Amino acid sequence: MRTLAHISDLHFGREDPALIRELLADLRKLEPTLVAVSGDLTQRARRRQFLAARAFLERIPCPKIVVPGNHDIPLYDPVRRFLLPLHRWRRYITADMDPFYRDAEMAVLGVNTARSLAFVNGRISDRQITLLRNRLCSIPDRTFKIVVTHHPFIPPPIPPYSIVGRAAKALAVLEECGVDLLLAGHYHLGYSDDIRSHHETIRSRILVSQAPTLSTRLRHEPAAYNVYTIDPPVLTLVVRSWNGKRFVTARKTRFREIKKTWSAVGS
Ligand SMILES: [Fe+2]
Ligand SMILES: [Fe+2]
Repeated sequence: MRTLAHISDLHFGREDPALIRELLADLRKLEPTLVAVSGDLTQRARRRQFLAARAFLERIPCPKIVVPGNHDIPLYDPVRRFLLPLHRWRRYITADMDPFYRDAEMAVLGVNTARSLAFVNGRISDRQITLLRNRLCSIPDRTFKIVVTHHPFIPPPIPPYSIVGRAAKALAVLEECGVDLLLAGHYHLGYSDDIRSHHETIRSRILVSQAPTLSTRLRHEPAAYNVYTIDPPVLTLVVRSWNGKRFVTARKTRFREIKKTWSAVGS
């Protein structure tokens, strides 16, 4: 059994200090096997925002997979945006753009989908698709396989309905490699579904799970993060929601593989 905390869209520069304090306390109590951070660590990719994000990450006492989001690329400085898009990310957060975690039960690969040109929707490159195959296909299927991106593979329930660029091409490889779970953020909305809710050509079950924001840039729902307990063939998702004072369990959903599809089987 493994426990994974999925936090996203912290947008340092638009953070709530009380929330950040309680989030660290909640994570310390939880002691997850791994924390996945799916991008938009900063609001405008400024130095002081990266420094605040780094100080936060350093206080999480467990392994982390961290990928950038579109907000981690400078927007208004054309030199930095097009010539040095992730320079500050590499300097202040991590130089590892293909972060990978593996233990006896779980393998997790982070993929950077943030691009200077495909600014809003992001994209996966051929190099990254090859890397996905090389890293994940040789791992036995009894290992639970997870990929973390900023931009999602299925659209949110409300507009805009965009997904990451080249999703279909990447998904063919993810299916081939037996990936179980895709984690992302970007829309500041929490939602989960089987990949075939949007990609009908995929035959294997892949669960997609989106985390909302932990910043003050809320969209129709409170700040929250997700905790997954991975105990195949059951995956339990607990949503830890911010009530203004502390994090509380807002929802618990159990997913089970039924007829090769991820189905919610109650709480
Ligand atoms: Fe965001
Ligand atoms: Fe984003």
